[in-house]
Amino acid sequence: MSRSPLPYNPKILELFRNPKNLGRMNDATVSAVAGNPSCGDMITFYLKIDDESEAIVKASFESYGCAANIATSSILTEMVKGKKLYDAWQTSWKTVAKEVGGLPTVKFHCGILAVGALRRAIRQYYKIRGHTPEWLPNEPTFEEKQALEEEELAKMLSKRMIEFEGEG
Ligand code: FES
Repeated sequence: MSRSPLPYNPKILELFRNPKNLGRMNDATVSAVAGNPSCGDMITFYLKIDDESEAIVKASFESYGCAANIATSSILTEMVKGKKLYDAWQTSWKTVAKEVGGLPTVKFHCGILAVGALRRAIRQYYKIRGHTPEWLPNEPTFEEKQALEEEELAKMLSKRMIEFEGEG
């Protein structure tokens, strides 16, 4: 069965072909692995943070996702570079989608995954440091809920597999 190509705009295609900040960061302060429950794709987000100013010195990512995920993750690393963690946290998936020139509706979750992974990394940073700033919500945000931890994702996918096998 052949699938018709998605209507990606030129900016997404360019970011997909030449992503910025792609790759593992060996001197990262913190990283977070996150997976999307609807497609099963995974991403790792790395941040190097200056402890004193709580600003992001650099950001990178590894994606096993689609073109939309690579493009949104890439642009997100550029958007948060140099920002304070508080400001980086405020970046919504809608802003990211706008920044890449718009996403096809069926690809919204790919941008949500990028933001969810970033927020998981920021939350992880404060967990390691042992203090929670006032602005950090106690409950996981929508984007974080859509970006499952590796183990949660694996559990969910294997459960689906068993259900599927059971149907046969
Ligand atoms: Fe899974 Fe895009 S389809 S990240």
